Amino acid sequence: MKFLTKMGNYIGGIEFSAGYRWQHWIRAISIFILIATGFYIADPFVTYANVSIDPTRFTQGYFREFHIIAGFAMTADVLYKTIFFFFFREGKFERESLKDAFNIKVAIQQVGYYMLLSKHPHTKGVYNPLQFWAYFALYVFFYGVIITGFTLYAEVYHQGLGGFLYPFAKFIETLVGGLAYVRLWHHIFMWGIIVIVMIHIYMAVFNAVFNKNGSMDAIFSGEKWEKEDKEDKE
Ligand code: HEM
Repeated sequence: MKFLTKMGNYIGGIEFSAGYRWQHWIRAISIFILIATGFYIADPFVTYANVSIDPTRFTQGYFREFHIIAGFAMTADVLYKTIFFFFFREGKFERESLKDAFNIKVAIQQVGYYMLLSKHPHTKGVYNPLQFWAYFALYVFFYGVIITGFTLYAEVYHQGLGGFLYPFAKFIETLVGGLAYVRLWHHIFMWGIIVIVMIHIYMAVFNAVFNKNGSMDAIFSGEKWEKEDKEDKE
């Protein structure tokens, strides 16, 4: 990390680039919209006192429209982050985490740190082994929800992208045993995402409280803070 600013005994440096922060927040907002609209699509609950036989309100249609818009944003975002991990120069620090991914000793020490029993282990990359595998599972769920989401999409929209994806959607539908199961898997992947997002928010607060270096601020401002006497690790 290159240290650029100084405030009291603390020096700050860029931890996350603008591109990294944009992809994080676009993903966070789109996931929130997808969960909210997804729950509605699954079990529509808005009813009107003055029911009309004319098709004028399209409540379910609007929920679906926002679901699909957020779904496209999230898909683009997940693809960007995947390319970032494998090919970007900045992604090197994430790729380095693979070196610790199978290190049981580091994993146990990390559990000790979370239980406030031991110090934070020294890690080669930005993610400790527990974090690495949690994010790995998150991407399995992301791609799961995207594949089943586009399968549902192609069943409804038969032209353009839907038409293009139709043979692939039919393949997925047959693979899982029918459209009802595509829907079921879409739900299962959603719940996987919900569990990991909840753990992610808890861990971000935990680190902000016990490891006071502005790691939570960094995803907003880009800057992280360290005590001045610490060595620049780069
Ligand atoms: C975090 C990501 C996502 C979550 C939490 C989510 C959640 C849901 C839920 C709960 C449903 C209702 C299924 C039902 O019981 O009928 C649904 C439906 C649907 N989702 Fe997603 N979804 C996500 C991503 C996507 C993506 C990436 C797409 C791709 C375009 C997509 C397209 C659809 C479509 C087309 C439907 C069916 C709408 C309908 O039946 O009218 N979803 N989603």
